[in-house]
Amino acid sequence: MTLLEEIDKNNIPRHVAIIMDGNGRWAKKKGNSRLFGHKNGVKAVREATEAAAQMGVQYLTLYAFSTENWNRPKLEVDGLMTLLVSAIENETKKLNENNIRLHTIGDITRLPKNVRAKLNGAIDNTASNTGMNLVLALNYSGKWDITNAVKRISQDIKDNKINVEDINDTLITNNLTTAQFPDPEFLIRTSGECRLSNFLLWELAYAEFYFTETLWPDFSKDTFYEAIKSYQNRERRFGKISEQIKES
Ligand code: FPP
Repeated sequence: MTLLEEIDKNNIPRHVAIIMDGNGRWAKKKGNSRLFGHKNGVKAVREATEAAAQMGVQYLTLYAFSTENWNRPKLEVDGLMTLLVSAIENETKKLNENNIRLHTIGDITRLPKNVRAKLNGAIDNTASNTGMNLVLALNYSGKWDITNAVKRISQDIKDNKINVEDINDTLITNNLTTAQFPDPEFLIRTSGECRLSNFLLWELAYAEFYFTETLWPDFSKDTFYEAIKSYQNRERRFGKISEQIKES
């Protein structure tokens, strides 16, 4: 039985989020530049996207560039931007062939003009696809998103559009850049680091977390299937007790 066959097709998380980590360490181990690691990271993005679509995941969100990543050396930031442009150029056709719709979350207005243009082109180009949604988090951070939501809600109160009493879970959710997506049920982080790094702070409230030692460029379809198998062995209780879950 292959790993894919071992997966219960009726218990696939609707939304999987991934913190792709370890490109730099992977390259260093091979005596190569960090950019070489990122280039190989793009191959892993392809593997993850294909595997997710194959399993029937509806939303795949990838943490591609955080607001803190601007602090990296200019050469690396420029290299990542160039890589992003070439990945979009090379992959858009494949996205369409596989009926995948591209989205972004984060403040993309700060990205270089050519990157923005390519991204917007690919988003438009794939807008009518009805299969999986691939969400790239770019210049994104959870605190940035929550801060903006608070500002928007405060402005609506100031303009007498809503009252303080109207603030609830749904209103906050609707003011985040992720408003149109369901919350992820499952988070994967590679490279052995066990932290959130400012990713989807609100949305991951009830997600199951999975940490693997695999460095991102080595992430394969099988790594993904293993992770999903682990998810399927978890009991999601949402604050209830085990017996209540079994009864429902
Ligand atoms: C983390 O590894 C990786 C990143 C910050 C960037 C991820 C980018 C890609 C996989 C390539 C482009 C993306 C797309 C969506 C086409 P790290 O550099 O933090 O590794 P380290 O912790 O070992 O230094």
